[in-house]
Amino acid sequence: MSRILITSALPYAAGAKHLGNLAGSMLPADVYARFQRARGRETLYICATDEHGTPAELAAAEAGMPVAEFCALAHEKLHAMGRAFGMSWDHFGRSSSDQNRKLTQAFAQQLWEAGFIEERVTQQVYSLADKRFLPDRYVIGTCPHCGYEAARGDQCENCTRVLDPADLLHPRSALSGSTDIEIRGSKHLFLRQSLFADRLRVAIEAKRSAWPNLVTSIALKWLDEGLQDRGITRDLSWGVPVNAADWGPNPDGGRPDVEGLAGKVFYVWFDAPIEYIGATWEWADAQAAAAGRAPDDQDWERWWREPGAADVTYVQFMGKDNVPFHTVGFPCTLMGVNERRDAAGRWTPASNAPWKLVDDLKGFNWLDYYGGRFSTSQKRGVFMDQALELLPADYWRWWLVANAPESSDSTFTWEQFRDQVNADLADVLGNFVNRICKFAESRFDGVVPEGGAPGALDEKLEADVLAKLRELTGHMEDRECRKATTALRQLWVLGNQYLTEAAPWTAIKTDRDRAAVAVRYGLNLAALFAKVSEPFIPGAAGKIAEALGEPFPGRWPSLDGEGVLTALSPGRPIRAPEVLFRKVEDAQVAEWRERFGGPAAAESA
Ligand code: MF3
Ligand code: ZN
Repeated sequence: MSRILITSALPYAAGAKHLGNLAGSMLPADVYARFQRARGRETLYICATDEHGTPAELAAAEAGMPVAEFCALAHEKLHAMGRAFGMSWDHFGRSSSDQNRKLTQAFAQQLWEAGFIEERVTQQVYSLADKRFLPDRYVIGTCPHCGYEAARGDQCENCTRVLDPADLLHPRSALSGSTDIEIRGSKHLFLRQSLFADRLRVAIEAKRSAWPNLVTSIALKWLDEGLQDRGITRDLSWGVPVNAADWGPNPDGGRPDVEGLAGKVFYVWFDAPIEYIGATWEWADAQAAAAGRAPDDQDWERWWREPGAADVTYVQFMGKDNVPFHTVGFPCTLMGVNERRDAAGRWTPASNAPWKLVDDLKGFNWLDYYGGRFSTSQKRGVFMDQALELLPADYWRWWLVANAPESSDSTFTWEQFRDQVNADLADVLGNFVNRICKFAESRFDGVVPEGGAPGALDEKLEADVLAKLRELTGHMEDRECRKATTALRQLWVLGNQYLTEAAPWTAIKTDRDRAAVAVRYGLNLAALFAKVSEPFIPGAAGKIAEALGEPFPGRWPSLDGEGVLTALSPGRPIRAPEVLFRKVEDAQVAEWRERFGGPAAAESA
């Protein structure tokens, strides 16, 4: 059985995250991780804060804090918030860790010595007012491709194109707003991505039927536009220092310009994906420390390096703006580290333990708020910490997975949120569990009843449940969030339909055995719901399992049909759980719309 390695895009250590950030990477990755663990697969779900580069620096400057301190705090906050939303990370690391610094520097050195890095003098934006270079997000201007006026120097968030600060029209400083800007030469390192274009195209074409269309089309568009070599260093002080003094000659005998590169750091998009590996190393070190063992590189390398990782399936989750960096940027780094070029340009494997590249990549579109962008600055939309003040995590998890922006952008409205959580969670699941448990409490002394023989109705239920369960499992394996929630909802509906037809409250008046069968099947169904709902709504699933005396989290039910509704043996004590889901009231919707901005606010923005 394969092991499953899961990563979700690393959130910037740059302040509050809104629900869209959760919906498009961390949450679906968590649902998938919980599912795979329940299936009995050895699973590792890794995430971390992305702490370097201009996003963190700008946020720290705005908060008036030293950047290292700011990042430490942001990491703690994001960690706590993620846990509160039920993120089952095996490790939540930091891209500023020692492990990531070592890996990033080692990779850069190997890339240089293998002939995949080149030095160039580049034209950088320099602010006379701020007396410093303005890399990446320190510059704001008009996108030369789509005309969006608030494009940042690293990427246009409107058309997702990756930019160079010097490309922006009407550039201004993000620090001071000053347009007193000149272009100055500065020595930088470039990863020669153009050398990898053909290999990448072959690799991406091979994934065309496996990866979402969104992902392969973004990746191929990038390749079609001509793959550019990429600057992987910056004129900044916060980041992983360029360690060029340690490097040997490249295949042509060239030495790095140690002096020209002094004081520079790697570009955040170079070191951040490496942190997927770095955080796995952090995890292994933490595990060893907790067990009082000496750290062993084998513990993390078995997830990342062949041949030990041959049985690992590696799945990445991310929003669409991150796709180019994961289909092109990071694969170039790893392919480059896995190879060397000799002076004649011939490629050979660099070692017999190559690094693992992504197998499956799940990309998401945007989640909007009333058809407009969530916006931190304009205070529009719901942020993770605020959401949990209103309602428990399950409500949000359910709605966000059921409405995941998979094939197109999707939009959050309070009205739709109310309608769907009330219908699915309160009226269907909550109502079913409550009815069956209450009835067993009052009429069967709070134990799983014995007696009676199953009839046609019960057998039909078993067959229907098994068919839906297979469907649900298939969608989960395919990481189809919306389809999976639809199948799960239909499974819950089967419970209410069954109770209505079996009507144990009527049967008990004339035929106690018949009622006993219905209650036994109903309770077993509730136990099944706890197992298969756990990836989505772990809080409520735990309450159901506890009420039924079931282990939690349980194993995903077997699909071979054996005993799908017989886990609870007759005589086992059960009790009704506390109310699982309270309905969202119209008055709450009105209040929240007011507080977080509704359609009017979105239109005027
Ligand atoms: N911090 C980036 C963002 O929020 C994502 C980084 S993903 C990683 O867009 F792979 F680079 F870490
Ligand atoms: Zn654009």
